[in-house]
Amino acid sequence: MVVRWVCASFVLLLLVGFMLNAAEFVNGGITSSYARKNDISADMPLDSDVFQVPPGYNAPQQVHITQGDHEGKAVIVSWVTPDEPGSNTVLYWTDNSKQKSSANGIVLTYKYFNYTSGYIHHCTIENLEVSQSYNGCWNWEYHKTILVYSPPRAGPDVPYTFGLIAGDLGQTYDSNRTLTHYELNPTKGQTLLFVGDLSYSDDYPFHDNNRWDTWGRFIERSAAYQPWIWTAGNHEIDFAPDIGEAKPFKPYTSRFHVPYRASESTSPLWYSIKRASAYIIVLSSYSAYGKYTPQYKWFEYELPKVNRTETPWLIVLMHSPLYNSYVHHYMEGETMRVMYEPWFVEYKVDVIFAGHVHAYERSERVSNIAYNITNGLCDPISDQSAPVYITIGDGGNQEGLATNMTDPQPSYSAYREASFGHGIFDIKNRTHAYFGWHRNQDGYAVEADSAWLYNRYWDPSEESSIASF
Ligand SMILES: *[C@@H]1O[C@H](CO)[C@@H](O)[C@H](O)[C@H]1NC(C)=O
Ligand SMILES: *[C@@H]1O[C@H](CO)[C@@H](O)[C@H](O)[C@H]1NC(C)=O
Ligand SMILES: *[C@@H]1O[C@H](CO)[C@@H](O)[C@H](O)[C@H]1NC(C)=O
Ligand SMILES: *[C@@H]1O[C@H](CO)[C@@H](O)[C@H](O)[C@H]1NC(C)=O
Ligand SMILES: *[C@@H]1O[C@H](CO)[C@@H](O)[C@H](O)[C@H]1NC(C)=O
Ligand SMILES: *[C@@H]1O[C@H](CO)[C@@H](O)[C@H](O)[C@H]1NC(C)=O
Ligand SMILES: [Fe+2]
Repeated sequence: MVVRWVCASFVLLLLVGFMLNAAEFVNGGITSSYARKNDISADMPLDSDVFQVPPGYNAPQQVHITQGDHEGKAVIVSWVTPDEPGSNTVLYWTDNSKQKSSANGIVLTYKYFNYTSGYIHHCTIENLEVSQSYNGCWNWEYHKTILVYSPPRAGPDVPYTFGLIAGDLGQTYDSNRTLTHYELNPTKGQTLLFVGDLSYSDDYPFHDNNRWDTWGRFIERSAAYQPWIWTAGNHEIDFAPDIGEAKPFKPYTSRFHVPYRASESTSPLWYSIKRASAYIIVLSSYSAYGKYTPQYKWFEYELPKVNRTETPWLIVLMHSPLYNSYVHHYMEGETMRVMYEPWFVEYKVDVIFAGHVHAYERSERVSNIAYNITNGLCDPISDQSAPVYITIGDGGNQEGLATNMTDPQPSYSAYREASFGHGIFDIKNRTHAYFGWHRNQDGYAVEADSAWLYNRYWDPSEESSIASF
């Protein structure tokens, strides 16, 4: 085979300069007056520029990377070859040393109804040196994409910027706007936390899995260059026994590999990673989470393991929000809230990001864990040990926005707005993080909502005066 290197160089800025306006904490209870035209978002047609198949026989496509271990020194590189398996090898080298190392991965295919996938490759590159910038390449003809990856430094005061294009992205013109706004935001996200509902291919007849491929090509422009941390949503279930597809999560778990074994999980649907100064726990809203279930047993031992001296910031990702004051999906997260909220408060989780509701909402720090069937104590109360709940299900999918809100706005709800957008969770040091939410209709730097978050372990000071409960 003729080996041709077509490589360009990109530079990943490890530490970005933070240019932020002074922000004030928004007191409880804002329903934004911003009225977005509520047109249903149309999916981009198959011949759109963002879906273009790279030219050349068997050219790799749908390249995406995610963290490959628990500590943050490994990366999983995934890609699809359409015509034949091709090589499983990734070659990589640092800027300083031109000597190339190689890592071998695996290749798999799957069938779904009458669809057969391309050759899906997953290759884990381990033991990368922190803060070193790596370039990677594939030894095929026609290859275009260069992996550029820098494992983050670890440490309690390491600043780190997470993006949140959350969930419910889909592949509409609005999805493309959301991704573009994330890319052009002057505060550069270094890793994207994705809270479920990826391609929406299950909205097509027979769950047309070709829409998984178009989605993979659409996100490559970001996901090949920074890790996207995956959470499963309801659109990943792809459970359709009527057409003979009774194995839940088959396309999702075939296409998106995560380092679940590194956190002693038995399922890719729930796992944890450490990244810079954060500890991130991913939960599955659509797997059993009741007492004695595998997810419960894993999670029970997970929270006590978190060492807040090492990773002060404790972030949980899930798809279905636990606090949601929209009519759409109202109370769908209630059973998981009943199971896990006491732990979230006990272990002082800083923030919980969810999607599912196609809108944005940020909560006050509240808990609702006193109820015991007979005592009647079933209202949320202000609780500075509780997480802030942020719903960011406003990526832009073809199902449109959730605009109908419960009225009046409950006092636990600090800010809500039905617009598409993205978020930035910007960790400054062990005590301070700054969250900004950006709606797609504004300029790239504009924040429609923002809040400082004080770390619940290191700085338990009150963030806000919460309205009376
Ligand atoms: C799969 O089945 C659908 C519905 O019958 C049909 O429209 C489509 O062309 C089929 N695709 C393949 C690859 O056979
Ligand atoms: C998607 O967004 C990118 C970047 O803004 C743009 O170049 C491209 O033309 C857009 N494609 C569609 C189909 O909207
Ligand atoms: C927590 O991490 C710190 C810093 O790495 C370390 O000194 C300490 O021993 C750890 N605590 C436990 C209980 O492992
Ligand atoms: C429920 O809560 C009430 C009031 O806090 C308490 O008196 C009662 O013993 C509790 N019941 C149970 C079963 O724990
Ligand atoms: C909004 O939700 C309420 C409560 O479920 C319902 O009665 C009402 O019809 C909904 N309005 C719209 C416009 O969907
Ligand atoms: C942590 O960051 C905040 C916000 O940038 C800053 O005000 C504070 O002084 C920092 N704390 C330390 C110990 O550097
Ligand atoms: Fe959803």
